[in-house]
Amino acid sequence: MNVCRKRVGDIFSVRFIGFERPMVMISDPDAVRELYSERAHGLPPGRSLALLPVVGPDSLLLVEGEGHLARRRLMSPPFHGERMRWNESIMREVAEAEVDTWAPHSTMALHPRMQAVTLEVILQAVFGVRDIERGDQLRNGLRQMLDDNASPALQLQVLLSRRLQRGDPLAELQELRHAVDRVLFDVIAERRRDPELDEREDILSMLIGARMEDGSAMSDQELRDQLMTLLLAGHETTATALAWTFDLLLHHPSQLARLTAEIRADGDEDYLRAVVSEALRLRPVIPLAGRRLKVEMSVGKYTLPAGTDVTPAIWLTHTRPDIYPDPFAFRPERFLENAPTTYGWIPFGGGIRRCLGAAFAELEMRAVIKSVLSRCTLEPLHGRPEPVARRNVTLTPRHGTRVRVLARSAAHHVAVEPVAA
Ligand code: HEM
Repeated sequence: MNVCRKRVGDIFSVRFIGFERPMVMISDPDAVRELYSERAHGLPPGRSLALLPVVGPDSLLLVEGEGHLARRRLMSPPFHGERMRWNESIMREVAEAEVDTWAPHSTMALHPRMQAVTLEVILQAVFGVRDIERGDQLRNGLRQMLDDNASPALQLQVLLSRRLQRGDPLAELQELRHAVDRVLFDVIAERRRDPELDEREDILSMLIGARMEDGSAMSDQELRDQLMTLLLAGHETTATALAWTFDLLLHHPSQLARLTAEIRADGDEDYLRAVVSEALRLRPVIPLAGRRLKVEMSVGKYTLPAGTDVTPAIWLTHTRPDIYPDPFAFRPERFLENAPTTYGWIPFGGGIRRCLGAAFAELEMRAVIKSVLSRCTLEPLHGRPEPVARRNVTLTPRHGTRVRVLARSAAHHVAVEPVAA
């Protein structure tokens, strides 16, 4: 993308293997505003190709038009306000338990550890599963399903088999999916029977109680699709964002020292918030969040007709020197001076499809970073920041952010409130 920007300029198109239409890439915040402000636009086909096998057709990530708006209204309340305090207490509890397992002087890759944390948070806060046996049934199946779905080889096979009209390479994934679905449908059935459903704070319980404008409720099948959506959208992304944040911090000692001091002094969270914003700017986990135009759009000297696929190239927006002086430097201080702008800082996309879990993700990142840095001293195993590798629709640290635990203190105080079972 950087090469295209240098050779061609602010707007260019790319043709991905297996796709009929080229994707037009933009990065100027005015153009991003123009794209994301139009509510009528649909989705380009790439999203469904990567996600449909796991999330199912009713997924909030894939539905369009009125169906999307209705579901979005239904699913937004659990991600706001008071509910978040309950989520935060789970995040802290899960992160503290993870840090407890880190032996001093051991070495490990942080990315898989962050995946374990964010999976557990989704199981507890979203699925409401705190029972160990049920958790185990889900944990293993889900992990394998997500790993298989992320395999680049499998995705290439899918593209080629569609082009050559060969058999379905996803058949094996479907078997695994059915096994996981059986557990999920059991969880949904048990929850529907729970006499304390109304008092429960997990997101599944709230979705069971939620009603569309016409008074209808979500079917079991739709509940299952939305659970998988929240899992797929929220687990890998947040784990990867955390791995990148630690990778950046561990290679920038003065920023790490400032943040650690702030956290250990139990002060305000200004610098922590700035670190999270800066890490998401420099290492956006999802590189593209595009639309298929329903109405024509003008960008600079071009008029893009309806039907064109257009996406902000998120990293290009985030590294524009006109918005971010010294754009490739990791400098959280820039966000102490200026808060992120709506169309110049877009790690969560924008408009009516902006990430539903953005506040949840940032809260979780802050909670996990606090737990780790208040108790651990870590050292990177590699002298340089990680190169980028692609994993399904995300960009991840290629070697998993390997670290050595130099020291770890016992859990001193865990500001966790009592949580209803
Ligand atoms: C750092 C972590 C995360 C990143 C970088 C991220 C990024 C994104 C992006 C780029 C989109 C597409 C937005 C668009 O098309 O404009 C998206 C959509 C979405 N995300 Fe996230 N996400 C994160 C965490 C989460 C979490 C924790 C959840 C929920 C638990 C979540 C749920 C969703 C959902 C449901 C959508 C679809 C929204 C819609 O189409 O209306 N995400 N996310």
